[in-house]
Amino acid sequence: MTTTAQQPLNSGFGAASTAEEVIKGIDLTGKVAIVTGGYSGIGLETARVLRTAGAEIVVPARDVERARTALEAVPGAEVEYLDLLDPASIDSFAEKFLASGRPLHLLVNNAGIMATPLARDARGYEAQFAINHLGHFQLTTRLWPALVAAKGARVVVLSSRGIRFAGVDFDDLNFEHRTYEPFLAYGQSKTANALFAVEVDRRGKEHGIRAFAVHPGLIIDTGLVKHIDPAMLRAAGALDSAGEPIRDPERQMKTVQQGAATTVWCATSPRLDGLGGVYCENVDITPLVTPENEAAWATGDTIPGVLPRAVAPEAAARLWEVSERLTA
Ligand SMILES: NC(=O)c1ccc[n+]([C@@H]2O[C@H](COP(=O)([O-])OP(=O)(O)OC[C@H]3O[C@@H](n4cnc5c(N)ncnc54)[C@H](OP(=O)(O)O)[C@@H]3O)[C@@H](O)[C@H]2O)c1
Repeated sequence: MTTTAQQPLNSGFGAASTAEEVIKGIDLTGKVAIVTGGYSGIGLETARVLRTAGAEIVVPARDVERARTALEAVPGAEVEYLDLLDPASIDSFAEKFLASGRPLHLLVNNAGIMATPLARDARGYEAQFAINHLGHFQLTTRLWPALVAAKGARVVVLSSRGIRFAGVDFDDLNFEHRTYEPFLAYGQSKTANALFAVEVDRRGKEHGIRAFAVHPGLIIDTGLVKHIDPAMLRAAGALDSAGEPIRDPERQMKTVQQGAATTVWCATSPRLDGLGGVYCENVDITPLVTPENEAAWATGDTIPGVLPRAVAPEAAARLWEVSERLTA
């Protein structure tokens, strides 16, 4: 059974809205936000805009120097070392944050990699699953006491329309018994991200923690596409003949500013008070894909929606238990 809260709210915003537009009128003074990957692409814009509303920003980074340089545009942002592929660094980061005694009001699990060649971490875990999901699972659960202490926290998890490529294969999470395909692994990790938001919300709501999954749109001028052949992007209609990104938000092709809008809305909008465990895009809760529109949804970009398997509570609970074992 799937959550019934998966219904658009008619937020008043849309595919072309920017993060700056959705945060207008919201005061985050006194709030603390951690944004993983907050030194590039969508995460950097998210950190910048949350800061303009007054939030204290902490950015975990695997390249601290590069992060400090990128974050010159975000006054006062703290940078701490963390590599989502290195469990010890996640524990150290979380311990240091907890030791600071601060509550954590906003956790944006934004960092990610896409369609990389097969790589494994020291535990043998496939890298896209390990970075995109397991690292964030470990980070969120280690930071749980600070989220509880906020007495009203939100966790935002970056998923993707890449959920169309694959569900979570619980029998072979790490591609040990099947052929590795970069987009299959990305799809699995992004479905895991969406499911994680469902279970964080279920476990968290009694502690005031609500969680949301986000599809930001297709934003090709970030670091994410470094493993994608530009010819493929041209064939997909994302680049024009001069190699410039095509902008058409109604077809998901967004600027970074538009791409960060749904994250910022999920992190801050009062319209979402009392809600959670839902998947959002185009700055609204998105509807469930139905059997009738699934083929059109999967092959086009104009129909919004989330596949039921990406918000299924049973799979979300199972993924949490498996992730606990894998990160113990
Ligand atoms: N752009 C899109 O079209 C799109 C579409 C759907 C979903 N998303 C999702 O949006 C999120 C942000 O993507 P983006 O497009 O903004 O890409 P990006 O510019 O490449 O940003 C990703 C960030 O994640 C960080 N990161 C990667 N591996 C890490 C690790 N092992 N430990 C710590 N940090 C790590 C990167 O750091 P380094 O620079 O050091 O690698 C970078 O700061 C991703 O989760 C992505 O899946 C993006």
